Amino acid sequence: MSASAEARLIQQHPNLDTLLKDIQSLDGLVEQWDEQQRNTVQAITRAHDELNKEAFSRLIRALKADPTALIALKEAVSDEVVYAVLRYHGIIKASLHERVDLALESVRPYLKSHDGNVELVEIKLPDTVIIRLLGTCDGCPASSLTLSEGIEKAIKEHCPEITTIKKAKGGVTAKPVDGVTVNFVSPFARNEDKDWLVVCSLDDVPEADIKVATVKGNEVLLSRFGDKVTCYQNACAHMGMPLDMGTVNNAILVCPHHSFEYSLESGECLTAPEVQLHTHAVRVINQRVEIKLS
Ligand code: FES
Repeated sequence: MSASAEARLIQQHPNLDTLLKDIQSLDGLVEQWDEQQRNTVQAITRAHDELNKEAFSRLIRALKADPTALIALKEAVSDEVVYAVLRYHGIIKASLHERVDLALESVRPYLKSHDGNVELVEIKLPDTVIIRLLGTCDGCPASSLTLSEGIEKAIKEHCPEITTIKKAKGGVTAKPVDGVTVNFVSPFARNEDKDWLVVCSLDDVPEADIKVATVKGNEVLLSRFGDKVTCYQNACAHMGMPLDMGTVNNAILVCPHHSFEYSLESGECLTAPEVQLHTHAVRVINQRVEIKLS
C-alpha cells in the first residue's frame, strides 16, 4: 500500500491511540479555562456519556437476544475502539488480561520496595497464568512465599477463573563482578560491587545447618545448600530473640524461645506463614562468602 493510501486509511479509521490523543489535547485546553467554564464542559460531557451509555446498553441488549447477532457482537468487541468505549461506560467487564495486569500492579509496590518486580509471560486459557519474577525477586530464597502469598493471592482475587499460577524461569542473571562469576545472589542483592562484606570461606558454612557470624555489629546466620548460601539476621520473627541456640533438623531451625520453626533454605516461618526471617544478600566468589546487609 502506498504511503498516501495508508494515510487516507488512518484518516478514515483512526486507531484508539489517535482518538485518545485528540481527547487528551482537548482536555488539556479545557484545563486552562476558568472554573465555571470547566464545570460547564464537564456537565456537557457527563450528559453525552449518559446518553451514549444508555444507547449502547439498549443496543447490546437487543443484539444479545439474537444468537446470530451475539456472535457478531463478540467479534465487534474484540476491536480495540469498541472494547475501550464499552469498558469506559462499564458495559462490559474487564478482560482477563486486564484483570491479571491489575492484580500484578497491585503487588508491584511491595516487590519494588525490595528492588524486585513481576511480569506477565502468558495466559493459558482457561485457567493458567505464567509470570516471571524480576530483579531481586528472581532467585530470592523467599520467592515461593512472594509467589504464593502475594502474587497468587492477588491474581486469584482479581481473576477467580485462574486456578494455576506458574513461575517462568528468571530473566535476570547475576553478572560477573570484576570478571569473577557470582555463584549465587540471594534476595535484595544488587550487582554493584560495593558494600559487600567478606564473612568467611564457603567451606566454613555447614550444609543445611547454621554458622553464626558477626558482621558490622550484626549477628547473622549462614546456611549452605550445595553452592547456594542463605543469610538471615539472628533474630526470630516472633519477638526478635536470637535463634542461634535453636535446634536444626532437616534444615528446619526451631527457635529456642517459643518454638517457631523456620526453613533455612527460604527463611519462611512454618509456624506463622505470614512472617519470615530478615534476609541479607549473599554472593560467593572464589569460595569466599560475602554478604550485603539489608
Ligand atoms: S521469640 Fe522465637 S518463637 Fe518466640
